[in-house]
Amino acid sequence: PTAAYQEFTVDNYKEGIDYIRRHTLPIVLKADGLAAGKGVLICNNHLEALAEFELMILQSKFGESGNKVVIEEFLEGIEMSAFILTNGKDYILLPEAKDYKRIGENDKGLNTGGMGAVSPVPFYDDALRKKVLEKIIQPTIDGLQQEKIEYTGFIFFGLMIRDNEPMVIEYNCRLGDPETEVIIPRIKNDLVEILLAVFENNFADVKIDTDERAAATVVAVSGGYPGLFKTGLEIHGISSIHPQETLIFHSGTLYDDGKLITNGGRVLAATSLGENIREAAEISTYNLEQIYFEDIYFRVDIGFEFREK
Ligand code: GLY
Repeated sequence: PTAAYQEFTVDNYKEGIDYIRRHTLPIVLKADGLAAGKGVLICNNHLEALAEFELMILQSKFGESGNKVVIEEFLEGIEMSAFILTNGKDYILLPEAKDYKRIGENDKGLNTGGMGAVSPVPFYDDALRKKVLEKIIQPTIDGLQQEKIEYTGFIFFGLMIRDNEPMVIEYNCRLGDPETEVIIPRIKNDLVEILLAVFENNFADVKIDTDERAAATVVAVSGGYPGLFKTGLEIHGISSIHPQETLIFHSGTLYDDGKLITNGGRVLAATSLGENIREAAEISTYNLEQIYFEDIYFRVDIGFEFREK
């Protein structure tokens, strides 16, 4: 199950124009290729959609990636992510997660590469999990076989849940960021043993032992991100974080002349486990408050809709 869509190229460009004119709002335009995460546009009026469509197809806004454009229905609902490890035949289900993409609290403001994530996802109950397995994961495995695609590795299912029904927004041949930072800490097995078992096709031997506790990760970014931001800012306080309580994952950091400095927009993430999402998120936030670099910013509401009152 996915959003209704049609594909257009320069050959059926005029049909694309008619399709956009008749389409209900908002209209989603996707470049059918790699575009550094920027190839999806959500247009709230027809003029904007027509202009972007022209830019993509006739003026190569995304280079060759935009030669084919997918025009798609906008799916409303709650986003979450499911993950498997597969050899294209058997698979292991990993813990699920929900990420928070907006820069501002209460999911306001510009999209980012991810400001935080939580796992488990409280509304992902047995009934919903069964639907995801039966309607999405197993058909995906069957599809790999039907299309003779040899694939061993992670599959990331970007899902939209609407009226308790799961739909696919995207697949990725990798784990997610910042989802990885909450799902891997919840897996108690040795990760290397799991990867070796997949490599050796010993799926029967693997039983994922998932920590019952909740995990929350909070991402610290450099002030101004996702717009202009500074780099090279010295990071203080990391050594005061106890790894038994909070794990720090580095993304935009660099060791330079014995100093830890910022080297990107999303600088680092703090992950903690707790009895519930509120506790996990509060421990991560508390520990991020012990870290300092000029203009550090992080959301203090990760997992807000799941925090018990
Ligand atoms: N958090 C979304 C992704 O990794 O694509």
